[in-house]
Amino acid sequence: MKKDELLTVFPTPVQIYKYENNIEKELKHIESLEWKSQAANGNFRSADSYLTKHEQLKDIVSFLKECIDDYCNTIINSEQRLVITQLWGNKNPKGSKHHEHVHPNSIISGVFYLRQDPKLPPIQFSKSNQYAMKLDPKKYNSYNAETFLLPCVAGELILFPSNLRHGVPVNMGEEERISLSFNTFSVDALGSEDSLTHLDIRSLMHESN
Ligand SMILES: [Fe+2]
Repeated sequence: MKKDELLTVFPTPVQIYKYENNIEKELKHIESLEWKSQAANGNFRSADSYLTKHEQLKDIVSFLKECIDDYCNTIINSEQRLVITQLWGNKNPKGSKHHEHVHPNSIISGVFYLRQDPKLPPIQFSKSNQYAMKLDPKKYNSYNAETFLLPCVAGELILFPSNLRHGVPVNMGEEERISLSFNTFSVDALGSEDSLTHLDIRSLMHESN
């Protein structure tokens, strides 16, 4: 047997960025927000989901914008610009979790960690096209795994395609996990007239008047 190259086609880009400034002030502000219970999961989200408008978070918001631009330019390799549509806080006390989900009506999504035990991964990604029939692996690797737990530390941001399934495993630690999540959408027109995929919301608004 002559074994040749092994290709990885269509990988899913999950990019980690590091915020190098102190986050104590921002963390205090986020902790002081009004929180809404997420019922069965035992976790909470901030009542205000438009935190980009908070002056106290302006440095973190400009870091998030810079990272979104980098993801667009280097990974998607596009000149189209994404903006944050909603930005909200998440609070996970001991024993709480968040069910597996995707983020509809968004192109890329992100989570920025403000308080997080580095030994307990706060996010689990799942493969969306799981095999109906499968062999049992002896050991998991990136080809046979169907879930992936990503350890994170405070000050880290992860950006990923919004249709990537993810959830928050049960917080087994004593400390509350605190993070910010957000969605994005393009301010530029998408697709093209020639390929019959053109989507320019602004021009549609003119037509409806
Ligand atoms: Fe999410």
